[in-house]
Amino acid sequence: MFETMSYSGNKEKDYELVLKQLEALISDETDTIANLANASALLYQFLDKVNWTGFYLWKDGELVLGPFQGLPACVRIGFGKGVCGTAVETRRTQLVPDVHQFPGHIACDSASQSEIVVPIIIDGEIFGVLDIDSPVKNRFDKVDQKYLEKFVEVLIPSLK
Ligand code: SME
Repeated sequence: MFETMSYSGNKEKDYELVLKQLEALISDETDTIANLANASALLYQFLDKVNWTGFYLWKDGELVLGPFQGLPACVRIGFGKGVCGTAVETRRTQLVPDVHQFPGHIACDSASQSEIVVPIIIDGEIFGVLDIDSPVKNRFDKVDQKYLEKFVEVLIPSLK
């Protein structure tokens, strides 16, 4: 049974704790969907000021909606489209302080104001992306980027 821990308010320390919680959640489980579902739920309860946390998975040349927390979202996103498709195309994390300034941003939830998308690359191949939306501008910074990239690294061995 997962128990929520109390976070300290120190951003880096709390992210370190979340990485440990993620390891504990996925270490005994090999089912990819189950692990992605728990990972999205873990981020949703840990991160403040977010309205969507989840995954898109690369299937037959496009991103398809995977496990998530938040409102129902657009199902398919093409290569290079929106923030998610751009993360796939560039293979780089997209840190977007204001989605309205991002050309081609795809608005699934009109509340979203800022967004971070981390590509998931396994053995050189795109597996999918981690996508997190916030209802406030400038929600994510370089510390979030560093730890969300670590989060994806910890998650990767539990995916196939
Ligand atoms: N805003 C994303 C689409 C996915 S939703 O945020 C859940 C994008 O522009 O790719």
